[in-house]
Amino acid sequence: MTEYSSSKKIKPSSDVVSDVRQLTLDELIRPRQTEHSLSIDRAFPEEFVNDLSRQEVFNKHLFRPNTYLHKWWARRCGSTFRAILKQFAANHECRDYYAPGGLEGMTVLDPMMGGGTTLHEAIRLGANVIGADIDPIPIVQARASLTQVELAGLRVVFDRFFADLHDSLGPYFQTECPTCEQTVDIQYVLHGLRKKCACRNVVQIDQYDLRHEDDAIIGICPESGEIFRNQNGQKTVVETLSLPTGMVGATADLITKAEKECPSCGQKYEELLDLPFYVRYTPIAIVATCPEHGTFFRSPSEEDLARIKRADERRSELDFGPLEDFRVHDGPKSGDLLRHNVRSYLDVFSSRQLLYLHQAIRQLRDYKGIDRLTLGMLVSTSLEFNAMLCGYKGWYKRRPGAIRHVFALHAYSFQYTVLENNPVNPRKSSGNLQLLFRDRIERGRKWSVLPVERKIGEDGKRELLKPDGFSLLGVLFQFQV
Ligand SMILES: C[S@@+](CC[C@H](N)C(=O)[O-])C[C@H]1O[C@@H](n2cnc3c(N)ncnc32)[C@H](O)[C@@H]1O
Ligand SMILES: [Zn+2]
Ligand SMILES: [Zn+2]
Repeated sequence: MTEYSSSKKIKPSSDVVSDVRQLTLDELIRPRQTEHSLSIDRAFPEEFVNDLSRQEVFNKHLFRPNTYLHKWWARRCGSTFRAILKQFAANHECRDYYAPGGLEGMTVLDPMMGGGTTLHEAIRLGANVIGADIDPIPIVQARASLTQVELAGLRVVFDRFFADLHDSLGPYFQTECPTCEQTVDIQYVLHGLRKKCACRNVVQIDQYDLRHEDDAIIGICPESGEIFRNQNGQKTVVETLSLPTGMVGATADLITKAEKECPSCGQKYEELLDLPFYVRYTPIAIVATCPEHGTFFRSPSEEDLARIKRADERRSELDFGPLEDFRVHDGPKSGDLLRHNVRSYLDVFSSRQLLYLHQAIRQLRDYKGIDRLTLGMLVSTSLEFNAMLCGYKGWYKRRPGAIRHVFALHAYSFQYTVLENNPVNPRKSSGNLQLLFRDRIERGRKWSVLPVERKIGEDGKRELLKPDGFSLLGVLFQFQV
């Protein structure tokens, strides 16, 4: 087990726990009045916390971005934990949710710290903290998010790291503008799932609509395979889709997920389970932005397919260590991968995605300390948005390019339309490094220096308050490991 501690001089205190053990059953079920009893049981402001957490629960990453550096499961609302911890304040005035501090001189132990919500809240209230977890990710996340560092310095480090990544990977993630032929960075590539029946090969996607805009729909025509723009009932062809002839050995028809069996031979369409997972998909559309002609959808050209092939050719030379380390073991969730005949975690990444990961790991060796921790966590968390398990939500007009990330359903789910993201796109967009740096690092660091709390007024309106008289990072400076 690994440990994170904010202080080297921890005075363990188990007073509270031993007092509870001495209580009789009668005392336990009665509202307690004793000086040493857990005040949380007596005075926890349930309704108040319910109202706050109802607002926070779907926006936890926006309400407390400092704990959201990396994906972790089963996170609770920070407001709930702030309210719990506040009950331990010796000074009753400090028990008010919006009052600063209250736990100065105390030590809070979270032996299963997970996402770290308790640690972060306890530090804000002035406590020393000790955190531990059986998994290394919570530890590294706590170290990376709780170590004091200038945000401006991190930005410089990230810019250098990103520029180097873009230099080496950019050529794999590019395409040509269909209007001016200019080579530009792609935003993402949509792939369809290859299947077959007794008489033909098909490519199955969620739906033929690729994007709903204010005044137009961009779609793929199932009959002709063309990408078109439909504006006020007038169809303009953007690009002709020619589904590549590949390992299946013949051209394929485009179908949607609603079509389960072949109308000609009556057989159910079957997945190509003998192929590595990433090979079961084929590109159907590329999305990019030309500085002159704006965002476009296009069919993969020969050159685009050659870019993918070049990455595929390098795949076997990428060394991530022993293959055994990536073997999928049976488990409540991973069993779903095995049922789809996915035996290695490496197979859920396209060759370009693996090239990205490989290059990022190589570059990380040039960094040290907090810079390396921060960049490492950023790359690791980016995998959630850069795998062939990612789906496409971007057809809806308010969410251009939005990704259904790997753990959106807290389980492995298998997509018809897969979104292969470009992590090194210099334009910020869903799940790429530029956006993740802003959301996970900049936002978190700024919040740490100037945290805010929500107050719900009588009229139900939210007010933003800055209750803490000290910054999270200021306190950490004192207790840094
Ligand atoms: C729900 S999270 C805890 C949330 C956290 N206490 C908080 O306040 O935000 C549960 C954590 O327990 C950790 N865990 C499970 N079994 C453990 C063990 N035997 N020893 C240490 N940590 C463990 C898991 O890795 C996971 O991160
Ligand atoms: Zn152009
Ligand atoms: Zn058939």
